[in-house]
Amino acid sequence: MPEEPALPLAPLGRRLCAVAESRDSGGYRLFSLLDKEGPEPRPGQFYMLATEQHWEQGGQRPFLPRALSVAEAGPGKDGVRLDFLIEGIGPGTDRLCELEAGEGVWVNGPLGNAFATPREISPGAAGAILVGGGIGIAPLALLRRCFAERNVPTRVLLGFRDQTHSGGLDELFSCCEVRLASEDGHAGHRGYVTDLLAAILDGDDAGSAVVYSCGPPAMLEAVRAMCAERGVAAELALESPMACGYGACFGCAVPLESGGYMRLCVDGPVVRGDQVAAVAHA
Ligand SMILES: Cc1cc2nc3c(=O)[nH]c(=O)nc-3n(C[C@H](O)[C@H](O)[C@H](O)COP(=O)(O)OP(=O)(O)OC[C@H]3O[C@@H](n4cnc5c(N)ncnc54)[C@H](O)[C@@H]3O)c2cc1C
Ligand code: FES
Repeated sequence: MPEEPALPLAPLGRRLCAVAESRDSGGYRLFSLLDKEGPEPRPGQFYMLATEQHWEQGGQRPFLPRALSVAEAGPGKDGVRLDFLIEGIGPGTDRLCELEAGEGVWVNGPLGNAFATPREISPGAAGAILVGGGIGIAPLALLRRCFAERNVPTRVLLGFRDQTHSGGLDELFSCCEVRLASEDGHAGHRGYVTDLLAAILDGDDAGSAVVYSCGPPAMLEAVRAMCAERGVAAELALESPMACGYGACFGCAVPLESGGYMRLCVDGPVVRGDQVAAVAHA
Protein backbone atom coordinates (compact mmCIF):
# COMPACT_ATOMS: atom_id res chain seq x y z
CA MET A 1 0.00 0.00 0.00
CA PRO A 2 1.42 3.46 -0.86
CA GLU A 3 2.56 5.58 2.08
CA GLU A 4 0.10 8.20 3.32
CA PRO A 5 1.08 11.71 2.20
CA ALA A 6 2.20 14.20 4.89
CA LEU A 7 -0.55 16.34 6.40
CA PRO A 8 -1.30 19.22 4.03
CA LEU A 9 -0.47 22.70 5.36
CA ALA A 10 -3.25 25.27 5.45
CA PRO A 11 -2.34 28.58 3.77
CA LEU A 12 -1.82 31.36 6.35
CA GLY A 13 -4.91 33.40 7.17
CA ARG A 14 -8.38 33.00 5.80
CA ARG A 15 -9.32 33.08 2.12
CA LEU A 16 -12.58 33.68 0.29
CA CYS A 17 -14.12 30.72 -1.56
CA ALA A 18 -17.26 30.66 -3.70
CA VAL A 19 -20.18 28.29 -3.11
CA ALA A 20 -20.46 26.06 -6.19
CA GLU A 21 -23.62 24.25 -5.11
CA SER A 22 -25.90 23.93 -2.08
CA ARG A 23 -28.90 21.66 -1.56
CA ASP A 24 -31.12 19.92 0.98
CA SER A 25 -30.35 16.35 1.89
CA GLY A 26 -32.51 14.37 4.33
CA GLY A 27 -32.85 17.12 6.92
CA TYR A 28 -29.27 18.29 6.49
CA ARG A 29 -27.67 20.56 3.90
CA LEU A 30 -24.86 19.61 1.53
CA PHE A 31 -22.77 22.39 0.01
CA SER A 32 -19.63 22.59 -2.13
CA LEU A 33 -16.94 25.27 -2.16
CA LEU A 34 -14.35 25.94 -4.81
CA ASP A 35 -10.99 26.43 -3.07
CA LYS A 36 -8.53 28.00 -5.51
CA GLU A 37 -5.60 28.27 -3.07
CA GLY A 38 -5.67 25.44 -0.55
CA PRO A 39 -4.27 21.90 -0.80
CA GLU A 40 -6.43 18.78 -0.97
CA PRO A 41 -7.40 17.76 2.58
CA ARG A 42 -6.96 14.32 4.16
CA PRO A 43 -9.97 12.48 5.66
CA GLY A 44 -10.72 13.63 9.23
CA GLN A 45 -9.44 17.17 8.71
CA PHE A 46 -11.72 20.16 9.13
CA TYR A 47 -12.15 23.79 8.09
CA MET A 48 -13.20 26.91 10.00
CA LEU A 49 -15.95 28.63 7.98
CA ALA A 50 -17.82 31.94 8.14
CA THR A 51 -20.05 33.41 5.47
CA GLU A 52 -18.89 36.62 3.75
CA GLN A 53 -22.33 38.22 4.16
CA HIS A 54 -24.72 38.23 7.13
CA TRP A 55 -22.29 36.88 9.75
CA GLU A 56 -22.11 38.80 13.04
CA GLN A 57 -24.84 41.07 11.70
CA GLY A 58 -25.86 43.90 14.00
CA GLY A 59 -23.55 42.60 16.74
CA GLN A 60 -25.48 39.30 16.88
CA ARG A 61 -24.00 35.78 17.05
CA PRO A 62 -22.32 34.00 15.30
CA PHE A 63 -19.14 35.99 15.94
CA LEU A 64 -16.55 33.27 15.41
CA PRO A 65 -16.19 30.92 12.45
CA ARG A 66 -17.58 27.38 12.83
CA ALA A 67 -15.71 24.06 12.45
CA LEU A 68 -16.88 21.63 9.76
CA SER A 69 -15.36 18.30 8.70
CA VAL A 70 -14.67 17.91 5.02
CA ALA A 71 -17.01 15.22 3.66
CA GLU A 72 -15.57 14.92 0.14
CA ALA A 73 -12.87 16.68 -1.85
CA GLY A 74 -11.37 16.45 -5.28
CA PRO A 75 -9.29 18.38 -7.78
CA GLY A 76 -11.26 20.45 -10.27
CA LYS A 77 -10.32 22.64 -13.22
CA ASP A 78 -9.98 25.81 -11.14
CA GLY A 79 -9.06 24.46 -7.71
CA VAL A 80 -10.12 21.92 -5.12
CA ARG A 81 -13.83 21.15 -4.64
CA LEU A 82 -14.71 20.80 -0.95
CA ASP A 83 -18.03 19.23 0.10
CA PHE A 84 -19.54 19.76 3.54
CA LEU A 85 -22.59 18.15 5.18
CA ILE A 86 -24.17 20.38 7.78
CA GLU A 87 -26.96 20.29 10.34
CA GLY A 88 -28.45 23.61 11.43
CA ILE A 89 -28.43 23.67 15.25
CA GLY A 90 -27.67 27.33 16.03
CA PRO A 91 -26.85 30.71 14.49
CA GLY A 92 -23.62 29.65 12.73
CA THR A 93 -24.78 26.38 11.24
CA ASP A 94 -28.20 27.88 10.39
CA ARG A 95 -26.51 30.66 8.40
CA LEU A 96 -24.25 28.15 6.60
CA CYS A 97 -27.36 26.10 5.76
CA GLU A 98 -28.79 29.15 3.95
CA LEU A 99 -25.81 29.43 1.56
CA GLU A 100 -26.62 29.65 -2.11
CA ALA A 101 -24.46 29.13 -5.21
CA GLY A 102 -22.21 32.11 -5.90
CA GLU A 103 -22.03 33.35 -2.29
CA GLY A 104 -18.64 33.83 -0.61
CA VAL A 105 -17.37 31.89 2.42
CA TRP A 106 -14.26 32.73 4.47
CA VAL A 107 -12.26 29.55 4.82
CA ASN A 108 -9.31 28.52 7.01
CA GLY A 109 -7.95 25.00 6.56
CA PRO A 110 -7.44 22.14 6.16
CA LEU A 111 -6.82 21.95 9.92
CA GLY A 112 -6.17 19.18 12.43
CA ASN A 113 -4.90 15.66 11.94
CA ALA A 114 -6.24 12.85 9.74
CA PHE A 115 -7.34 9.23 10.12
CA ALA A 116 -4.51 6.70 9.81
CA THR A 117 -4.63 3.48 7.76
CA PRO A 118 -5.41 0.19 9.57
CA ARG A 119 -1.78 -0.99 9.12
CA GLU A 120 -0.39 2.24 10.61
CA ILE A 121 -2.53 1.63 13.72
CA SER A 122 -2.22 -2.11 14.10
CA PRO A 123 0.27 -4.08 11.92
CA GLY A 124 -2.01 -7.17 11.91
CA ALA A 125 -5.11 -5.30 10.79
CA ALA A 126 -6.06 -5.74 7.18
CA GLY A 127 -9.43 -4.02 7.07
CA ALA A 128 -11.53 -1.15 8.36
CA ILE A 129 -14.98 -0.88 9.91
CA LEU A 130 -16.47 2.62 9.58
CA VAL A 131 -19.20 3.51 12.09
CA GLY A 132 -21.04 6.79 11.57
CA GLY A 133 -24.01 8.36 13.28
CA GLY A 134 -26.14 11.30 12.12
CA ILE A 135 -24.17 14.29 10.90
CA GLY A 136 -21.04 12.34 11.93
CA ILE A 137 -21.18 10.33 8.71
CA ALA A 138 -19.54 13.34 6.96
CA PRO A 139 -15.80 12.65 7.45
CA LEU A 140 -16.31 8.91 6.88
CA ALA A 141 -17.30 9.52 3.23
CA LEU A 142 -13.86 10.83 2.24
CA LEU A 143 -12.22 8.16 4.41
CA ARG A 144 -14.18 5.39 2.67
CA ARG A 145 -13.17 6.63 -0.79
CA CYS A 146 -9.50 6.93 0.19
CA PHE A 147 -9.53 3.38 1.58
CA ALA A 148 -11.24 2.11 -1.61
CA GLU A 149 -8.48 3.71 -3.70
CA ARG A 150 -5.88 1.91 -1.54
CA ASN A 151 -7.74 -1.43 -1.70
CA VAL A 152 -8.34 -1.50 2.07
CA PRO A 153 -11.30 -3.88 2.72
CA THR A 154 -13.89 -1.64 4.35
CA ARG A 155 -17.29 -2.24 5.92
CA VAL A 156 -19.57 0.76 6.43
CA LEU A 157 -22.18 0.93 9.23
CA LEU A 158 -24.32 4.07 9.44
CA GLY A 159 -27.03 4.97 11.91
CA PHE A 160 -29.71 7.65 11.98
CA ARG A 161 -32.24 8.81 14.54
CA ASP A 162 -35.07 9.13 11.99
CA GLN A 163 -35.70 10.10 8.37
CA THR A 164 -35.35 13.82 9.04
CA HIS A 165 -31.82 13.24 10.36
CA SER A 166 -30.51 11.01 7.58
CA GLY A 167 -28.92 13.36 5.04
CA GLY A 168 -25.85 12.68 2.93
CA LEU A 169 -26.47 8.97 2.51
CA ASP A 170 -27.43 9.01 -1.18
CA GLU A 171 -24.90 11.66 -2.20
CA LEU A 172 -21.88 10.50 -0.20
CA PHE A 173 -22.28 6.72 0.09
CA SER A 174 -24.22 5.72 -3.06
CA CYS A 175 -21.34 3.79 -4.62
CA CYS A 176 -20.68 1.38 -1.76
CA GLU A 177 -22.44 -1.22 0.33
CA VAL A 178 -23.74 0.27 3.57
CA ARG A 179 -25.42 -1.44 6.52
CA LEU A 180 -28.00 0.87 8.05
CA ALA A 181 -29.61 1.26 11.44
CA SER A 182 -32.34 3.72 12.38
CA GLU A 183 -33.91 4.32 15.76
CA ASP A 184 -37.38 4.77 14.21
CA GLY A 185 -36.97 1.70 11.98
CA HIS A 186 -37.43 3.62 8.70
CA ALA A 187 -34.32 2.01 7.21
CA GLY A 188 -32.27 -1.06 8.03
CA HIS A 189 -31.98 -2.46 11.54
CA ARG A 190 -34.33 -0.85 14.08
CA GLY A 191 -32.02 0.32 16.83
CA TYR A 192 -28.52 1.69 17.22
CA VAL A 193 -25.67 1.42 14.75
CA THR A 194 -23.59 0.07 17.65
CA ASP A 195 -25.86 -3.05 17.61
CA LEU A 196 -24.49 -3.74 14.10
CA LEU A 197 -20.93 -3.13 15.28
CA ALA A 198 -21.33 -5.49 18.26
CA ALA A 199 -22.61 -8.25 15.96
CA ILE A 200 -19.56 -7.87 13.68
CA LEU A 201 -17.03 -7.65 16.51
CA ASP A 202 -18.49 -10.71 18.25
CA GLY A 203 -18.98 -12.65 15.04
CA ASP A 204 -15.68 -12.58 13.23
CA ASP A 205 -11.99 -12.02 13.69
CA ALA A 206 -12.37 -8.59 15.23
CA GLY A 207 -8.64 -8.12 15.70
CA SER A 208 -8.15 -8.07 11.92
CA ALA A 209 -9.91 -4.71 11.57
CA VAL A 210 -9.60 -1.20 12.94
CA VAL A 211 -12.79 0.70 13.81
CA TYR A 212 -13.16 4.34 12.67
CA SER A 213 -16.02 6.34 14.10
CA CYS A 214 -17.66 9.75 14.11
CA GLY A 215 -21.04 10.69 15.53
CA PRO A 216 -22.82 11.93 18.65
CA PRO A 217 -20.76 11.71 21.88
CA ALA A 218 -22.91 8.92 23.40
CA MET A 219 -22.42 6.79 20.28
CA LEU A 220 -18.67 7.47 20.25
CA GLU A 221 -18.39 6.45 23.89
CA ALA A 222 -20.29 3.20 23.17
CA VAL A 223 -17.93 2.48 20.24
CA ARG A 224 -14.85 3.32 22.35
CA ALA A 225 -15.95 1.08 25.24
CA MET A 226 -16.98 -1.78 22.93
CA CYS A 227 -13.60 -1.74 21.17
CA ALA A 228 -11.66 -1.39 24.45
CA GLU A 229 -13.45 -4.42 25.95
CA ARG A 230 -12.58 -6.56 22.93
CA GLY A 231 -9.04 -5.26 22.37
CA VAL A 232 -9.94 -3.78 18.98
CA ALA A 233 -8.05 -0.67 17.85
CA ALA A 234 -10.22 2.37 17.15
CA GLU A 235 -9.92 5.93 15.92
CA LEU A 236 -12.61 8.44 16.90
CA ALA A 237 -13.25 11.86 15.35
CA LEU A 238 -14.21 14.01 18.36
CA GLU A 239 -15.81 17.43 18.62
CA SER A 240 -15.44 20.20 21.12
CA PRO A 241 -16.38 23.87 20.81
CA MET A 242 -13.62 25.58 18.81
CA ALA A 243 -12.87 29.30 18.80
CA CYS A 244 -9.63 29.61 16.79
CA GLY A 245 -9.05 26.19 15.19
CA TYR A 246 -5.24 26.46 15.21
CA GLY A 247 -4.07 25.94 18.79
CA ALA A 248 -4.09 29.50 20.18
CA CYS A 249 -7.08 29.69 22.54
CA PHE A 250 -7.15 26.29 24.37
CA GLY A 251 -10.94 26.38 24.11
CA CYS A 252 -11.05 22.89 22.62
CA ALA A 253 -9.00 21.08 25.31
CA VAL A 254 -10.12 17.53 26.18
CA PRO A 255 -8.70 15.36 29.02
CA LEU A 256 -6.30 12.54 28.14
CA GLU A 257 -6.34 9.03 29.61
CA SER A 258 -2.68 9.51 30.62
CA GLY A 259 -3.42 12.80 32.43
CA GLY A 260 -3.24 16.34 31.12
CA TYR A 261 -5.10 17.69 28.13
CA MET A 262 -4.87 17.82 24.35
CA ARG A 263 -6.00 20.63 22.07
CA LEU A 264 -8.44 18.89 19.79
CA CYS A 265 -7.91 21.34 16.92
CA VAL A 266 -4.18 20.58 16.53
CA ASP A 267 -3.70 17.16 18.24
CA GLY A 268 -7.10 15.92 16.93
CA PRO A 269 -9.89 15.90 15.97
CA VAL A 270 -8.99 12.24 15.34
CA VAL A 271 -7.87 10.43 18.51
CA ARG A 272 -7.05 6.79 19.23
CA GLY A 273 -9.69 5.11 21.40
CA ASP A 274 -7.14 4.46 24.16
CA GLN A 275 -5.99 8.11 24.27
CA VAL A 276 -9.16 9.26 26.01
CA ALA A 277 -10.57 7.87 29.26
CA ALA A 278 -14.13 8.27 28.00
CA VAL A 279 -15.98 10.45 25.51
CA ALA A 280 -17.88 12.98 27.60
CA HIS A 281 -21.62 12.99 26.95
CA ALA A 282 -24.76 14.22 28.69
C1 LIG B 1 -13.74 19.24 14.22
C2 LIG B 1 -15.23 19.49 14.09
C3 LIG B 1 -15.90 19.06 12.96
C4 LIG B 1 -17.27 19.32 12.82
N1 LIG B 1 -17.90 18.89 11.68
C5 LIG B 1 -19.20 19.16 11.50
C6 LIG B 1 -19.87 18.78 10.28
O1 LIG B 1 -19.26 18.19 9.37
N2 LIG B 1 -21.19 19.11 10.14
C7 LIG B 1 -21.87 19.78 11.12
O2 LIG B 1 -23.07 20.06 10.93
N3 LIG B 1 -21.29 20.14 12.29
C8 LIG B 1 -19.97 19.85 12.49
N4 LIG B 1 -19.36 20.24 13.66
C9 LIG B 1 -20.15 20.90 14.71
C10 LIG B 1 -20.32 22.37 14.43
O3 LIG B 1 -19.05 23.03 14.43
C11 LIG B 1 -21.19 22.98 15.54
O4 LIG B 1 -22.47 22.40 15.44
C12 LIG B 1 -21.32 24.48 15.36
O5 LIG B 1 -20.11 25.08 15.74
C13 LIG B 1 -22.47 25.04 16.16
O6 LIG B 1 -22.50 26.44 15.93
P1 LIG B 1 -23.88 27.23 15.91
O7 LIG B 1 -23.58 28.69 15.91
O8 LIG B 1 -24.75 26.71 14.81
O9 LIG B 1 -24.58 26.79 17.25
P2 LIG B 1 -24.19 27.21 18.75
O10 LIG B 1 -25.27 28.09 19.28
O11 LIG B 1 -22.77 27.68 18.82
O12 LIG B 1 -24.26 25.78 19.42
C14 LIG B 1 -25.49 25.10 19.51
C15 LIG B 1 -25.38 24.06 20.61
O13 LIG B 1 -24.38 23.07 20.30
C16 LIG B 1 -23.33 23.09 21.28
N5 LIG B 1 -22.08 22.97 20.50
C17 LIG B 1 -21.64 23.83 19.58
N6 LIG B 1 -20.51 23.39 19.01
C18 LIG B 1 -20.23 22.23 19.61
C19 LIG B 1 -19.20 21.28 19.49
N7 LIG B 1 -18.22 21.44 18.60
N8 LIG B 1 -19.22 20.19 20.27
C20 LIG B 1 -20.20 20.00 21.16
N9 LIG B 1 -21.23 20.86 21.32
C21 LIG B 1 -21.23 21.95 20.58
C22 LIG B 1 -23.45 24.40 22.00
O14 LIG B 1 -22.98 24.29 23.33
C23 LIG B 1 -24.93 24.66 21.95
O15 LIG B 1 -25.60 23.96 22.94
C24 LIG B 1 -17.98 20.00 13.84
C25 LIG B 1 -17.30 20.44 14.99
C26 LIG B 1 -15.95 20.18 15.12
C27 LIG B 1 -15.23 20.66 16.34
S1 FES C 1 -9.84 25.95 19.07
FE1 FES C 1 -8.36 27.35 19.85
S2 FES C 1 -6.85 26.02 20.70
FE2 FES C 1 -8.23 24.66 19.73
